[in-house]
Amino acid sequence: MFKRFRRLRINKTLRELLSETSLSKNDFIYPLFIKKGKNIKKEISSMPGVFQMSIDQILKECEELQKLGLNSIILFGIPEIKDSIGSDALCEHGVIASSVKAIKKEFPDMFVTTDLCFCEFTDHGHCGILDMKNQTVDNDATLEILGKQAIIHAQSGADMIAPSGMMDGMISAIREALDSEGFVNLPIMSYSTKFASAYYGPFRDVAESSPSFGDRRSYQMNPANRNEAILESLEDEREGADILMVKPALSYLDIIRDIKEHSLLPLAAYNVSGEYAMLQAAKKAGVIDYEKVMLETLLSFKRAGADIIITYHAKEVARLL
Ligand code: PBG
Ligand code: ZN
Repeated sequence: MFKRFRRLRINKTLRELLSETSLSKNDFIYPLFIKKGKNIKKEISSMPGVFQMSIDQILKECEELQKLGLNSIILFGIPEIKDSIGSDALCEHGVIASSVKAIKKEFPDMFVTTDLCFCEFTDHGHCGILDMKNQTVDNDATLEILGKQAIIHAQSGADMIAPSGMMDGMISAIREALDSEGFVNLPIMSYSTKFASAYYGPFRDVAESSPSFGDRRSYQMNPANRNEAILESLEDEREGADILMVKPALSYLDIIRDIKEHSLLPLAAYNVSGEYAMLQAAKKAGVIDYEKVMLETLLSFKRAGADIIITYHAKEVARLL
């Protein structure tokens, strides 16, 4: 059939009629970085257009997002004080808990997802409690406080919880904790296949979350492994995740497709900070047609099989659609 169409002179309408994928404002989740304080709006040098903001500025941002037709955000918090167990994340007055309350109060229609992890809250920058002997994260001790953190987010009014730490068993532990407090209907979007990637570099500057020693390779995945990548997501599905995710997106289009073909759950792709920074740098250097490259890149995630795209480009795209 397509061979026949190719021989015809395809006009614009026919091209659109035959289009298999498209981008819509409803596809996007926009990440926001919240810092304790007042009147803070600090741009990240490698990520033009992305800011650390205090809650007063975040509320203005939410208004702008809704005007653009964007109704879904994911929150990252930068606390005033970091310590070994990330106490700010476990406190109902912490940066995320208080921000969710403020946002939901002013913008009840904004769909607020919270990133659930400890790396932004610990003084050592790892994603959980440390096992000092092995100089890495203590998986099971971390599961316990992840459950507590999830309950704090839920009680603050979060619409969806997105655990990003890649701890083994985190989805069951969080599901159980949420259910035990009556949040049986609160969805979990798992960062189910998250690679140990150099593409997170700029994020760690914004979120002030670089590990002070070592790296995250003991809990994040090896970029060389395809079967393991699929298995990780399927395990989270079994544990009760409602939405799966592949992160980063651009270097892992094959994995997005693989997981889409192995699971019927909705799938998110996280178009991470380094991917955004590269396009912005190329724009600044004047070597690409930025808008076209951006749209082509985002479309490739949909074509690969993503239903949801978490992206710093959301506002730029919304203006174009
Ligand atoms: C925290 C977290 C990270 C990102 C999202 N949640 C960083 C990391 O694992 O180091 C990366 C997002 C980005 O690079 O845009 N666990
Ligand atoms: Zn983390």
